[in-house]
Amino acid sequence: MAALLSVTGVSRSFGGVFAVREVSVEVAPGELHGVIGPNGAGKSTLFKLIGGQLRAQGGTITYAGRRIDRLPPHRRARLGIAVVFQGASIFRGMTALENVMVGAHAITRSGFGSGVLRLPRHRREERDIRHRAGKALERVGLADWAGRPAEALPLGQQRAVQVARALCGEPRLLLLDEPAAGLRAAEREALAQLIEELRAGGLTMLKIEHDVAFVTRLADRVTVLDLGRVIAEGTPAEIRADPEVIAAYLGQEVVPR
Ligand SMILES: Nc1ncnc2c1ncn2[C@@H]1O[C@H](COP(=O)(O)OP(=O)(O)OP(=O)(O)O)[C@@H](O)[C@H]1O
Ligand SMILES: [Mg+2]
Repeated sequence: MAALLSVTGVSRSFGGVFAVREVSVEVAPGELHGVIGPNGAGKSTLFKLIGGQLRAQGGTITYAGRRIDRLPPHRRARLGIAVVFQGASIFRGMTALENVMVGAHAITRSGFGSGVLRLPRHRREERDIRHRAGKALERVGLADWAGRPAEALPLGQQRAVQVARALCGEPRLLLLDEPAAGLRAAEREALAQLIEELRAGGLTMLKIEHDVAFVTRLADRVTVLDLGRVIAEGTPAEIRADPEVIAAYLGQEVVPR
């Protein structure tokens, strides 16, 4: 089957130091692809290259059969790529529903803020966005929380609000950068279940994790980065058995919990 996303030989440096160096990743439709690696390995940089927040300095990125590496982030979003960034936080002073609506505004024609003009088209768009945001909250199991202030939610549910925000634009490819970071065991479990459900619904995902046990449990395939390079790629079982991975990563800092 043709890949939904093909990252081929992509590089990016900052001040002459490569954060990502000739990295290639293939993600098949419907796959949950894990990305692991120690701090500073280039994981978040790779996601920004895919999302368009950073420009690749070499290589190509193909999504659904077309080159996207020169498109700005909002064009990629409209093509169906959504990103939940590392450490992203909810907007305080807004309800859970409003937080999710921001995700849809990012990809509509008029954009956030134009709603104040109250033109008929904008009112229709606003209704449509509200409806889609409600559906997205339902998908992550937070329908009952729609009207509550987002900051009143426990951290695990705030994370789910961010996932809903990304889902609001009905993406085909969802990038999750350490979605389980800082969550307690029960919250991680709930998040893992949500991710399983999204996968069962056919969503293709690329997910960065620090916790090796967490990523290898959920992922179909895993790419391991170290110092900006891919040092291994394979099934979770292959990754766990790879001597280079064990030496570079598993043996050191992160012990499966
Ligand atoms: N905007 C930037 N300017 C300068 N250097 C950067 C920038 N973004 C990332 N880097 C550097 O690139 C390297 C890779 O960073 P990146 O954030 O991609 O790593 P990571 O694998 O996501 O790490 P972590 O597990 O800590 O999130 C690091 O050395 C980092 O300091
Ligand atoms: Mg990171």
